[in-house]
Amino acid sequence: MSTTYIFQDAETDNDVMLRALAGMYDPFSEQRLRGAGISPDARCLVIAVGGSSIAGTIAGLAPRGEVIATDVDLRACQRDPRVDLREHNVVTDPLPGTFDLIHVRLLLGHLPQRLDILRKLVDALNPHGILAVEEFEPTWRTSVLAAPDPDEADRLFGAYHDAFQVALQDAGNRSKWSRRVHGALLDLGMTECDTVGHTGTWAGGSHGCLLPWGTAGAIRQKLIDAGMSAADIDAFRHLLLLPELRVKSNLALSTIARRPR
Ligand SMILES: C[S@@+](CC[C@H](N)C(=O)[O-])C[C@H]1O[C@@H](n2cnc3c(N)ncnc32)[C@H](O)[C@@H]1O
Repeated sequence: MSTTYIFQDAETDNDVMLRALAGMYDPFSEQRLRGAGISPDARCLVIAVGGSSIAGTIAGLAPRGEVIATDVDLRACQRDPRVDLREHNVVTDPLPGTFDLIHVRLLLGHLPQRLDILRKLVDALNPHGILAVEEFEPTWRTSVLAAPDPDEADRLFGAYHDAFQVALQDAGNRSKWSRRVHGALLDLGMTECDTVGHTGTWAGGSHGCLLPWGTAGAIRQKLIDAGMSAADIDAFRHLLLLPELRVKSNLALSTIARRPR
């Protein structure tokens, strides 16, 4: 079993995947952070920002504050004059100071060091600081709502889901992590813990379908190694671009908690 971030060697389709994630989840993350009550002068850190616009959104919510956004790979990152974008590895590098808000989406589940990193993030919060951790919950997989051949579409989504879960586990991902974040934050002494789920309806070719399209391209060989045939991967990617396709996306869980005063 390797224990590295599963997409790190995949350049092809990675940008599509990161843009799709941003399109699917930036509005949800924004809604969650608006509800959390970020003070206008907050010092904020976005870990593993990828192609997301959430750092710019946070800069709008904290106009007198400061926003640092980080990632190990800055190629897909959006540039925003209000955001200090830095190359940073959250596993090996110290965090750049203390913060009133830290946001991390869709990273910790991939990293075997997730609990140590969670502790590192909590320790870097100022009193009453907010930590937002957002992850996929793989129990509710993507559901086919409409397709030219719904049974065949179900079969292809099932084959993809099963192979992707194997590939994720081989890479050190822990599938139950999204459900464990809440309890782990309570164990670390955090208060006001709140977890909310998000899913949505997506048509073929839209963000919710381009995410599995890009992912299946980026980790094609890993899916084959995990038992999905090359023909099914091709048929699956073809299906994901059909305008007649409608899916209910898999569930994402957003957990927000505060450090005590
Ligand atoms: C699945 S993407 C999520 C991107 C973004 N947070 C989002 O939800 O749209 C994971 C991101 O984590 C970054 N990443 C992987 N390993 C990392 C590490 N050790 N430290 C910081 N970022 C890392 C990747 O480069 C990628 O941008």
